[in-house]
Amino acid sequence: FALEANAYYSISFDNVKFVESGIFLVNEEGFIEDVFEKDSVEYKSIRKKLVEDGKLRVLDDKHFIIPGFIDLHIHAPQWPQSGSALDQALEVWLNKYTFPLESKFKDLEFASEVYTNFVKQSLKFGTTTAMYFATIDVKSSSMLAKICARLGQRALVGKVVMDDKISNPSYYRDENAKDSLKKTEYFINDVLAIKDSCKQKVYPVITPRFIPSCTDEVLKGLGELAKEYKGIYIQSHVSESDWEHSYVKERFGINDSFALDSFNLLTDRTILAHGCHLSDDDMKLLADRSSSIASCPISNAYFANAVLPVKDAIDKSLNIGLATDISGGYSPSMYTAIRQAIISSRMLNDGVDPRLRSGKRGREDSSLSLNNAFYLATLAGGKALKLPVGKLEKDYAFDIQIIKIDDNIPSFYKEKSNLDLFHKAILLAESTNIEEVWIQGNRVK
Ligand code: GUN
Ligand code: FE
Repeated sequence: FALEANAYYSISFDNVKFVESGIFLVNEEGFIEDVFEKDSVEYKSIRKKLVEDGKLRVLDDKHFIIPGFIDLHIHAPQWPQSGSALDQALEVWLNKYTFPLESKFKDLEFASEVYTNFVKQSLKFGTTTAMYFATIDVKSSSMLAKICARLGQRALVGKVVMDDKISNPSYYRDENAKDSLKKTEYFINDVLAIKDSCKQKVYPVITPRFIPSCTDEVLKGLGELAKEYKGIYIQSHVSESDWEHSYVKERFGINDSFALDSFNLLTDRTILAHGCHLSDDDMKLLADRSSSIASCPISNAYFANAVLPVKDAIDKSLNIGLATDISGGYSPSMYTAIRQAIISSRMLNDGVDPRLRSGKRGREDSSLSLNNAFYLATLAGGKALKLPVGKLEKDYAFDIQIIKIDDNIPSFYKEKSNLDLFHKAILLAESTNIEEVWIQGNRVK
């Protein structure tokens, strides 16, 4: 089929491209077969043929399309507590709220209810690719992958590994390192068996929760598993809060990134959440390994009182994507994450009280533009995952959101540029403005 629509998508960190009434041709496999722009030679004849064949759907100028969002870090089991307990410190929040909640997911009925509800919610907000932490429970973690496969979301799912007997509560941990490794391998094969059962695909992820919850033995074993299952994804948390960062420094005498690297856990398929405390050397190491960071601006504000210096990282060739971090971040909407990424970036001040800096607030050149943040939510996510998603060009998956311009997005006059309209739509859109969502050529909303 083919869709004619105004479209916006990132072509670089700084630049968003506008395509006026482009014709997007989608093939059987759900990939964009071709895009015809208005000024191309074939446009008229292609359009005529598609109309004759009844294959062209035309959107009016009150609608436009953008790529679906790629949410690089979500704790699906934490959805029930989203929006609560965020005034606690990370370590208190984990032990008092999060571990008790996650431990309930061995109840498959409860897991099914929560996971189905969350995936639908995430689709509603235009998230077409999602990278999930599930829980330590293998069965319900596989179930999350199956739910995504059924509901049409492209997903990467990890069974969480927590084997340390001191830092994890007795009611919520794997028995020991061997048990973690056995369960992880079982989970990987379980998900690989259903990977191709859906057009958009689901993928297993090796998931040490974070260094504090894992023994050296398990980290080493997971690194070996990653070697064995070539090309497998890896996810964890890295240099998140002062508490977490100091813990790792004390245990290993080095930062998280170097510690993970010593266990062979940094590959080009590694996605690490947060990274607020990454040093220049950490950033260089991660860039060398082609690993990526999932920036979680909302939870970074709550738990780390920190801002990831995105532009510094990008200057060091470190790829940064964006994430909601449910429920350290309260909102399942990547629109909210985009808005917070921009706002937070304007407040980066290196920990110096801005009142002391001769009236100069914030840090020069740290601000992210809307184009920058949109890039993080789309193309950078695709780059992190090495998947053809996040762009509306030939050979990319047809993962789109159809945005309707209504009174939520005021339009009393013709904007000075098409980008002005795009910018205000991304900042003001409500879930009701996301009229349709398509993944791999299938409509999911
Ligand atoms: N570090 C370890 N586990 C978690 C988690 O669930 N959320 C956040 N934000 N940080 C973590
Ligand atoms: Fe997290």
